Amino acid sequence: MFKKIKKSISRDYIKEIDEENIPRHVAIIMDGNGRWARKRNLPRIAGHKAGVEALRDIIKSSSNIGIQYLTLYAFSTENWNRPEEEVNGLMDLLVLYLRKEIKELHKNNVRINTIGDINRLPMKTINEIEKAILMTKGNTGLTVNIALNYGAKAEILNAVKNICKKVGENTLTIDDIDEKAFSQYLYTDTIPDPDLLIRTSGEQRISNFLLWQIAYSELWFTEVYWPDFKPDHLFEAIIEFGQRQRRFGGL
Ligand code: FPP
Repeated sequence: MFKKIKKSISRDYIKEIDEENIPRHVAIIMDGNGRWARKRNLPRIAGHKAGVEALRDIIKSSSNIGIQYLTLYAFSTENWNRPEEEVNGLMDLLVLYLRKEIKELHKNNVRINTIGDINRLPMKTINEIEKAILMTKGNTGLTVNIALNYGAKAEILNAVKNICKKVGENTLTIDDIDEKAFSQYLYTDTIPDPDLLIRTSGEQRISNFLLWQIAYSELWFTEVYWPDFKPDHLFEAIIEFGQRQRRFGGL
């Protein structure tokens, strides 16, 4: 178990969590780093650095309470449109984070995985990610699934193309393509769909994240900017998740 995290809010959220109702898979759109930095007259990259600090505690808490999958929207296919300096800064942050944290993550049985087309990332980022994936591939605790150069529409198109190729080669028939089979062509493959999707910073949209996989996910939004997102916010979302009735289209 990761060491306990210092508490900053008086209400003891963790005690209110229903252990029978912990989401197996939580996905997070970590938004608001830029606005957090602007409020403090800092460069945008300072917001992303603070975002990494927030992430560290969220990974620890997720692991400690028994979440099995945590999917993080770290870099979208659209994020290439940001200034080069910011893109490079984000790629460097990822490298620094993995170099600094991978041993501790590994010790705590965390498995690192990515979704998205990582081949377009800088070589040193790819190398560091591949090392982390290889080192942790046998771990059985929390899977941290980092979405990098990820876009849900691109993911779905990629699946469709691969399926068409197989149909063309007669290794798959049209009748074989049901929802389960289709899912296996997505980056998330064997990972169960998210139970809970969190977005920070007050925006209430999906922004091309996991469009197929969130068909029945519970959505939870908060005004808090990502760098200010603390484990207690995560616990608050999980408590509310536990109180919702999921019907999956039934009664
Ligand atoms: C959105 O905030 C955030 C991002 C595009 C990047 C999120 C990345 C991190 C928190 C670091 C990832 C690192 C690791 C190790 C996975 P924004 O910049 O769009 O904020 P704004 O909407 O306020 O401008």
